[in-house]
Amino acid sequence: MTDDLSRLKAETEAALAAATDLRAWDAVRVGVLGKNGRLTGLLKELGKLAPDERRERGAALNLLRDALNGAVEARKQALEAAEMEARLGRERMDVTLPPRPRPTGLIHPISRTMEEMAAIFGAMGFGIAEGPDVEDDWRNFGALNIPAHHPARQDMDTFYLPGTDDEGRQRVLRTHTSPVQVRTMLNQPPPIRVIVPGRTYRADHDATHSPMFHQVEGLVIDRDITLGHLKGCLIDFLRAFFGITNLPVRFRSSYFPFTEPSMEVDIGWNRKTGELGGGGDWLEILGSGMVHPKVLANCGIDPREWQGFAFGMGIERVTMLKHGMPDLRPFYESDIRWLRHYGFNPLAPVMLHEGV
Ligand code: DAH
Repeated sequence: MTDDLSRLKAETEAALAAATDLRAWDAVRVGVLGKNGRLTGLLKELGKLAPDERRERGAALNLLRDALNGAVEARKQALEAAEMEARLGRERMDVTLPPRPRPTGLIHPISRTMEEMAAIFGAMGFGIAEGPDVEDDWRNFGALNIPAHHPARQDMDTFYLPGTDDEGRQRVLRTHTSPVQVRTMLNQPPPIRVIVPGRTYRADHDATHSPMFHQVEGLVIDRDITLGHLKGCLIDFLRAFFGITNLPVRFRSSYFPFTEPSMEVDIGWNRKTGELGGGGDWLEILGSGMVHPKVLANCGIDPREWQGFAFGMGIERVTMLKHGMPDLRPFYESDIRWLRHYGFNPLAPVMLHEGV
């Protein structure tokens, strides 16, 4: 190999060694093997040589070209491997790290209570019924044996809506979930076993009352239903809901137009500590009774053949009692801090307590 070729080889090898990334490598490659590269230039000059010289020089140049191609290719592979190595180092991750916490939504306590009630009563064979928030005064009052002059109508501070519905009846925001009793009895033949969770409205607003609140209604219609069924059902429900197996439950004679006899239900608690269970004090928790024969008849059910019981309770109230929540107002304020504190994990299943 002539001196100039040896030098070109040595310089190219040195330049390749000095090229530490693929850009520098490519510059070296183009500078030697490219269209205007040094080796290409030498090859072009071959034509000017005499035949003997050309053969010899040509053979030497071909050898050199193969050698340089090999060196260039080898350097490229080395650089690519180094780059991959560097990338793997840079992008290394620790797969044992715990995942970043993702924000999850929480279930509002009202919804949670409804879910719990659905689970408990569901286990007792109850289905769920629903009705509209905008009712008519017949279903909200009349069919439930609350006549026009009845004080219960004033007691309930009804929101009356302007105008009448298709049937010519006064429209109202339902003041309780009881009109869904009427709807259910009119829509399906007995036996009936439903609960009705839903929104209710009364023109009443202070620290312990909201104009919109929630109730759950219960209705059982069957043959030979007695007060014993009512009592057993509600005692089981209350103990399961509050999670206190021996929760004291007391039935106190009362009055509702739509039930006869009617009873209010109290649970045992400690008035001073607010703790539920023993403690010697009583806390009213719900209203109930045997469905009034007039209500059955109003809904097309023969009271000589069918009997039943019904009950109704405020969802906010039992929720506050169960979780020791002191104030009603934050229920509707959508304050995310309150919800973070009192909300429920949507993935946590409703657990039924023993005895249900
Ligand atoms: N509707 C009643 C109220 O809002 C609650 C109630 C009491 C419902 C007795 C019933 C019942 O079904 O039998 O105060």
